[in-house]
Amino acid sequence: MQGRRMKNRGPVQKPKNLKGTVRRLYVYLKPYRFRLLLVVIGVMLTSLASVTGTAFLRPIFNNHIVPLIGQKSPDLSGFIRLLILLACVYAVGILSNFLYSRQMVRITANVLDRIRTDLFRHMETLPIRYFDTHTNGDLMSRYTNDIDSLREMISRGIPQLISSLITVTGVFFVMVFMSPLLTIMILSMLGLMILIVRVIGGKSGKFFMERQKQIGSVNGFIEEMITGQKVVKVFCHEEQSIADFEALNTKLCQADTSANIFANILMPIIGNLSHMNYALTAAAGGALVIAGLLDIGTIASFLQYSRTFTQPITQSSQQINSILLALAGAERIFEMMDEDSEVDEGYVSLVNASTDADGAIRESDTYTGRWAWRHPHSATGDVTYTPLEGDVRFYDVTFGYNENKAVLHDISLYAKPGQKIAFVGATGAGKTTISNLINRFYDVPDGKIRYDGININKIRKADLRRSLAMVLQDTQLFTGTVRDNIRYGKLDATDEEIVRAAKLANAHGFIMRLPDGYDTMLTTNGANLSQGQRQLLAIARAAVANAPVLILDEATSSIDTHTEKQIERGMDKLMHGRTTFVIAHRLSTVRNADAIMVLEQGRIIERGDHSDLIAQHGKYYELYTGALELS
Ligand SMILES: Nc1ncnc2c1ncn2[C@@H]1O[C@H](COP(=O)(O)OP(=O)(O)OP(=O)(O)O)[C@@H](O)[C@H]1O
Ligand SMILES: [Mg+2]
Repeated sequence: MQGRRMKNRGPVQKPKNLKGTVRRLYVYLKPYRFRLLLVVIGVMLTSLASVTGTAFLRPIFNNHIVPLIGQKSPDLSGFIRLLILLACVYAVGILSNFLYSRQMVRITANVLDRIRTDLFRHMETLPIRYFDTHTNGDLMSRYTNDIDSLREMISRGIPQLISSLITVTGVFFVMVFMSPLLTIMILSMLGLMILIVRVIGGKSGKFFMERQKQIGSVNGFIEEMITGQKVVKVFCHEEQSIADFEALNTKLCQADTSANIFANILMPIIGNLSHMNYALTAAAGGALVIAGLLDIGTIASFLQYSRTFTQPITQSSQQINSILLALAGAERIFEMMDEDSEVDEGYVSLVNASTDADGAIRESDTYTGRWAWRHPHSATGDVTYTPLEGDVRFYDVTFGYNENKAVLHDISLYAKPGQKIAFVGATGAGKTTISNLINRFYDVPDGKIRYDGININKIRKADLRRSLAMVLQDTQLFTGTVRDNIRYGKLDATDEEIVRAAKLANAHGFIMRLPDGYDTMLTTNGANLSQGQRQLLAIARAAVANAPVLILDEATSSIDTHTEKQIERGMDKLMHGRTTFVIAHRLSTVRNADAIMVLEQGRIIERGDHSDLIAQHGKYYELYTGALELS
């Protein structure tokens, strides 16, 4: 629909919606909540084992070491029993750590699997417009590094955070129980540390967002340079592209530095504070022991606890980083998932049709070889059937990719079933744009384009596209065999249909000369074929679709005139009984069209068949006689 605009999201600076992102992530984790509970229990056991283990130091010192000092033959049995118990406690910790980590890896892999699938599924619903405005590399990086940072967060960041929380709480209570005075001292040091983490850690968040964005640009650039490597070489652009890359890379480097500087200076500061804390506790504790207010076992445990207490906070800087990074990535992923899908409010569908004895069209459950548009009318509740014939009409279509710049102006034309309509005109005149409107890559206002008399905006996109076979201007082949690539036009095509289509497109001959014939593997957009051969495959793909309307956008531009003559015969067969739109630079291909539209800057300036146009002595005449070059 016109007026349907992409949301302008602008560059990502900081988490715009942290809460929302976390909530969205939780939706993915929810199915595993039972297992996550087990993980939490595992984390708790691990942390508690470590806290309990340390608590053993006190009885070990007070009951089994200090009383034995100076004895000739000390009784070590109690000491050994305690050590064995201690070993058991630690064994529980190690075992639960192993189990929960394994579980977490599984959960993470499954969650990421679902996120990737959802992202891809959604990507397949996005309108062409979205891909016009985003680089491939930028989109790719959502599947790669954004997902990677999420993996890091879910499988390690979150369990660590839980473990830290439990350890800190557990240790806190034990410390208060042992010595409130020393606890207060440690808490004040801790306050200082938290303040520093807040100030520095908070700053780094924004830079992590920036870093993710820069990774996206660098990836986009690399992607483009890999696909465009030949052009780079042809124009000796290596130096320039290295320079461009360096500029982008420097930006990434700066973002990376800013992000990590804060993260990394945090570590040593916290580390040193924690050493100071340890020394102070030892000194104060020693003083208390000398004053007879504390025993040596308590001090031994306490010193250990002060480490355990501050360590999670030291780690929290790393945790904050990895979580921020992951949330930034998650936000980018969800942003893409939130992009508006291609809307399709079409309700007219294509059905198999048969004709009654009285001539009325009926819907059929089985394949009849004939099709009809099923058109439910909400006002009357009636359903009407219109035979699929391939009548396409434009009424005053004005269209622009951007709202402020029209590319097509007042285009009116009709193509009756079976007619061949050609578009000629200079580069950028709007020929491809017209074909993009017929199959609704882009939408025009209601009622402006009609297919068999039906407003195309009412037709379900999938059905509309099924009724159109297209050879796009840029040939796109996929990794797979030649046969698979032709079958793209009709998924249930039999091998015979494929060969027939290839023969029609005059592709059969060269396919048979390929090493494995129809089973030859094509790689990266058919790099192992010539340009013309790729176009022939694209034509075969359109032929196999067997649709009543055919759109050929420069389908024969790379094919030599000799082959083209041969194809022409096949094409005539292919076009027979089908409405065909041909876009061609070569005027010989359009000569036999029923109507030729001459386009100039988005307007049809002349129309008629070849002899009419020649007689008009206008633009077409000039083009044809070579008085004017096409592009
Ligand atoms: N996706 C797009 N977004 C914005 N503008 C576009 C887009 N595609 C084409 N245009 C603009 O629309 C105009 C018509 O382009 P179009 O591709 O229809 O030309 P064409 O007649 O097919 O040219 P050619 O003969 O070179 O294939 C051009 O000025 C072009 O810049
Ligand atoms: Mg074009």
